[in-house]
Amino acid sequence: MKLAILSRAPQAYSTQRLRAAALDRGHEVKVLNTLRFAIDLSGEDPDLLYRGKLLSDYDAVLPRIGNSITYYGTAVVRQFEQMDVYTPNTANGITNSRDKLRANQILSRHDIGMPATTFVAGRNDVRGAIERVGGAPVVIKLLEGTQGIGVILAPEAKVAESIVETLHSTKQNVLIQRFIAESRGRDIRALVVGDRVVAAMRRTASGDEFRSNVHRGGTVEKVTLSPEYEAVAVRSAQIMGLKVAGVDMLEGNDGPLVMEVNSSPGLEGVERATGLDIAGAVVDFIANQVAFPEIDVRQRLSVSTGYGVAELLVHTNADLVGKTIKESGLWDRDITVLTLHRDSNVIPNPRSGVALEPGDRLLCFGKLEEMRSMIPERRKRRAKVRKLPKEPLQTEG
Ligand SMILES: Nc1ncnc2c1ncn2[C@@H]1O[C@H](COP(=O)(O)OP(=O)(O)O)[C@@H](O)[C@H]1O
Ligand SMILES: [Mg+2]
Repeated sequence: MKLAILSRAPQAYSTQRLRAAALDRGHEVKVLNTLRFAIDLSGEDPDLLYRGKLLSDYDAVLPRIGNSITYYGTAVVRQFEQMDVYTPNTANGITNSRDKLRANQILSRHDIGMPATTFVAGRNDVRGAIERVGGAPVVIKLLEGTQGIGVILAPEAKVAESIVETLHSTKQNVLIQRFIAESRGRDIRALVVGDRVVAAMRRTASGDEFRSNVHRGGTVEKVTLSPEYEAVAVRSAQIMGLKVAGVDMLEGNDGPLVMEVNSSPGLEGVERATGLDIAGAVVDFIANQVAFPEIDVRQRLSVSTGYGVAELLVHTNADLVGKTIKESGLWDRDITVLTLHRDSNVIPNPRSGVALEPGDRLLCFGKLEEMRSMIPERRKRRAKVRKLPKEPLQTEG
C-alpha cells in the first residue's frame, strides 16, 4: 500500500517507528507535514494539495494530529475521507476524543465507567458541582490539556472554587472530576488497534505527584489486562470512532474508570515497557483495512428521500415477540434488518429464521414513514418520584 503519515514531527520516536515498520513490510510510505496541505474544493471532486502540488494517490493515511493544530489537522483528515482514502482515525473520532468533556459526554451513555464528572459555567454553580462529584479533594481539568498539563488536584473546596473562578476569568473551560484516590497515582494505558488491545502498561507517578504521565516523571511497566479492562478499552475506542487509540483508565474500586482516549498515542513508552512491535501492528492493521474506507452509513443511506435508519425495540412492538424475522412482516413493509442487538451481543445480518425476543433491538433500514409508527414514544428519563432507599433512613437520637 501507499501510506501517508500525517505528522509535524518526522524525527519523533513514534513517527520514525511507524515509518520504519511500513518500509520493513514493503509498503511505500511518506511522512507529510499536516500544515503543508491545502484543501481544494474548487474542482469537481474534493482534492488536496501538498506543498502547492496536487497530492498523488494514497491508499491510506495515518493521522498523528497534535493538540495545537486540531482544527486544521482534522480538516485535512476529513478531506482524505472525502477522497475515500482509508484512515483508522476519522476526523470525527479525533475531534470527539480531543475534548475531554465531549469524550465523557459521548461515553456516558454507553455504560463505560468514568470518574464522576461535571461541567459548569458560573461561579454560583461551582460549589454544587464539587459536592456532586463527592466533595474535595477534586480534580480540575482543562478540556484540551495533554501530558498532564492542565490537570490540577484541589485539596479543598475553597481552593477548587478559586482555581475554577480564576480559569473561568481567563475564558478557559474546565471540568470538575472526582479524585480517584484509590488509584494512588497509577493508571493504565491500553493501546487499542482495531478491535483488540495490542499492549498495555501501568504508569506510576513519581514522588507525591498524582499525575502518572511520563512527561510528569511517571514510570512505566508492562501489565497484562483482565478481560474487563480490555473490553472497556476496546469499546471506548470504538465508541469514539478510533481504530488506533491509547485508552487511559484509572483502577477504581469497582473496575476500570476511563479518563481519556488518545487519538495519537505515543509509542515510545509502551514499546519500551512491553518490548512489543506496536508500530508494526498498526501498519498491518491499516494494510488489512485499506479496502474499507470509513463510510458515514447513516448519511449515505438517508440520501434516497423517505428512507433512513432507525432502531426498533421488540418489546414495545408486542406483536413481534416470538416471531422470526421472516414472520415479522418487516420485509413486506420494505424494512431490512441490518443488525440485531441482544443484551451486549450484536448479530449482523440476522437470518430470517432468528426468533425475536423481548428486549431485542433491531437496527433497520427502510421507509421512515413505515418505521415511525413502530418507534416507541420517547422514554421519560427518570421517574418523578424517587424510590426510597432499601436501608431505613437514619433518624437522629
Ligand atoms: N479523576 C482523577 N483521579 C485521580 N487521578 C487522576 C484523575 N484524573 C487524572 N488523573 C491523573 O492525572 C493524569 C493526567 O490526566 P488526563 O486526564 O489523562 O490528562 P492528560 O490529557 O493531560 O494526560 C492521569 O494519567 C492520572 O494519573
Ligand atoms: Mg492522559
